[in-house]
Amino acid sequence: MANVAVLGAGTMGHALALVFAMGGHRVRLTDSNPATLERAQGLMETALATLVRLGEAPPDRTADWLAGAVTRHASLAETAQDAELIVEAIIERPDAKRALYAELDEVAPAEAIWASNTSYLDVFPLIPERRQRRAMIAHWYTPPYLVDLCDLVPGPRCEPEAVERVRATVAAMGQVPIVMRKFVPGYVANRVQAAIQAEVQRLLDEGVGTAQEIDAAIIHGIALRLPILGVFAKADFTGLQLMYDAARNRSGGAGEGGPGQALAELVEAGKTGVLSGAGFYDWSGRPPAEWFEERDRRLVALKKALRRIGSLAGFQEKGDEA
Ligand SMILES: NC(=O)c1ccc[n+]([C@@H]2O[C@H](COP(=O)([O-])OP(=O)(O)OC[C@H]3O[C@@H](n4cnc5c(N)ncnc54)[C@H](O)[C@@H]3O)[C@@H](O)[C@H]2O)c1
Repeated sequence: MANVAVLGAGTMGHALALVFAMGGHRVRLTDSNPATLERAQGLMETALATLVRLGEAPPDRTADWLAGAVTRHASLAETAQDAELIVEAIIERPDAKRALYAELDEVAPAEAIWASNTSYLDVFPLIPERRQRRAMIAHWYTPPYLVDLCDLVPGPRCEPEAVERVRATVAAMGQVPIVMRKFVPGYVANRVQAAIQAEVQRLLDEGVGTAQEIDAAIIHGIALRLPILGVFAKADFTGLQLMYDAARNRSGGAGEGGPGQALAELVEAGKTGVLSGAGFYDWSGRPPAEWFEERDRRLVALKKALRRIGSLAGFQEKGDEA
């Protein structure tokens, strides 16, 4: 991928233009609002300067370099000209996206890949038929120059080669593309985040704790393990028999829906996690004690880094043990 067009220069668009520029691509950026397009330059420059200052981008990534790497264009035709990948990041309204796609159909190169950054919309019915073979969703998280996940959802008639090209391009930029097998609004991360949000809201309304206390539970309980284990590997360490029994015997609405089929099948097969050598993951390569030691080593490293950084929410621990 060399020429990338980014449509929409708002919260996501300006940042995605920066991501692709830093990834070595030539970027053309547009927005229907001239003031937003103008503002995007300053936002990109500030973000880039921060990344350079903190060592996340090389020092030669200056404002001058940026001016050459990302050009801004008022016209859609000029922006889409020669584009191999077109990233759509305009407002989250089906009517606006449909109108833009119709206009884009007139001017985009025949082989250009279309990738929508939509958060929740099934955009595929909005895309003209002849573009379906190159249409997908590529969904980033803000700020995309720091959050590595990119959800890729192939359209129903998208050619696998197009998906692979975008996957490889995103991976080559040091990010983490996940190709979803089907479209669900919110993908994985936003859905899990929404479930957490709904639950903490309920706990707050029921008077279980203050916002600060609930945040402390999240920060010191859940969050610490997530970057190292995710959810399924964490379950393998907890032990799947316990997870299964707890999910079956739980009362009061926590974790509604029972244990789930995949978990039940693993437990029935005796694959109860790290101690048994298998669970959601295969742990057979090393003795359990070594896996526990690996986990603990990483948790200690993370705790030390977090103590040094501190959290913005309350209850952060004091001291610097790193
Ligand atoms: N904000 C986030 O955290 C986030 C994260 C992931 C995905 N998204 C998705 O990214 C997309 C953009 O979201 P955002 O937060 O950047 O919105 P935003 O409102 O900040 O920016 C959208 C921009 O699109 C422009 N626009 C509208 N119609 C246009 C057209 N026809 N041609 C060109 N530009 C047009 C608007 O002027 C605006 O500047 C949405 O689909 C949203 O769901 C947002």
